[in-house]
Amino acid sequence: MLHAAFATALEQLPRHFERHGYDRYGTAELRGAVADWYRRRGLPTAPDHIMITNGAQHALGLLARTLLSPRDRVLIDHPTYPHAIRTFTEARARLLPVALVSSGWDTAQLDAAARAAQLAYLIPDFHNPTGMCMSPRVRRQLRLACPTVIDETMTDLALDGPKPEPFAIHMPTAVSVGSVSKSIWGGLRIGWIRAVPSLLERLAQARPTMDLGTPVVEQLATAVLLNERQAERSDALRQLRSQRDALSRALTEYLPDVQAALPAGGVTLWAAFPEPISSRLAAIAPDYGVTIAAGPRFGIGGAFERHIRLPYTLPSSQLAEAIRRLAQAQLALTRGMTGTHTPAPVV
Ligand SMILES: Cc1ncc(COP(=O)(O)O)c(C=O)c1O
Repeated sequence: MLHAAFATALEQLPRHFERHGYDRYGTAELRGAVADWYRRRGLPTAPDHIMITNGAQHALGLLARTLLSPRDRVLIDHPTYPHAIRTFTEARARLLPVALVSSGWDTAQLDAAARAAQLAYLIPDFHNPTGMCMSPRVRRQLRLACPTVIDETMTDLALDGPKPEPFAIHMPTAVSVGSVSKSIWGGLRIGWIRAVPSLLERLAQARPTMDLGTPVVEQLATAVLLNERQAERSDALRQLRSQRDALSRALTEYLPDVQAALPAGGVTLWAAFPEPISSRLAAIAPDYGVTIAAGPRFGIGGAFERHIRLPYTLPSSQLAEAIRRLAQAQLALTRGMTGTHTPAPVV
């Protein structure tokens, strides 16, 4: 699939040689393909509402740098994506965490927090790390008083039903961040921002100190892949679904005290242990050949010490083996052993 897309991209490349190849907004081909991706899902979008970035993470960095001043408050889901936490704290913002409860997002809490915030950052589609998806009712109800960034990196990974509607259908002022990292491949390093052209202009002005544009061949290949609907492959989703189910079964078998709701999409399951052992478990698990990210990485103030994020991106047999080994690591902890490993990098 990638080979064919890159072959087409190389054929198209010469028409870009008339220009120098630096473009802060992205190629017309990919901006058009991303706009179509929104349009197909019911959100009219023009190519000039899209800026192509080097992945969603780059988009978040660019938005933080452009929209935030030191000591601004940023509303976040709690837990949330760890690199977003770092992005906002490195912009010297203060975080306003709003707890994600077992039923999902609490609109009253979010509305109240947004009144005290300069920016909100939410992951409503198959949230990282919990896998939760915001209900259509909550989407319709939310009226946040501050500018809102919506991370739609996981949108295409709906495992049990249709994909959620683009958030901006309900909140037209929302700035949306997207990516093909989860739906196609992270190595493409292609993401985007959907926003009004005046904001994209501010972002384009801020961009050169970080980078001068996104590689053209990768953009052309991604446009081919999006136009061919390769971000919506039912075979890939079927495989991911069966891996999720295998992981869930392995938890029931090897770690029966652990609670984990089955996520409706995304790539991770948020497992809760009866005891606050997450950091110690993450430190000892490599001794058993398993690398995991401890719960506190996904929050602030040392929260989530009972939680572990478990990605189901490996083949089912490896997932079952990993959980068997994790159970051995947990047993070792109860026998007083400790691990010495430093935290694993989180994606
Ligand atoms: C919620 C969320 N946002 C952004 C990213 C970064 O995505 P990208 O690879 O497009 O930079 C990730 C990666 O895991 C993620 O989970």
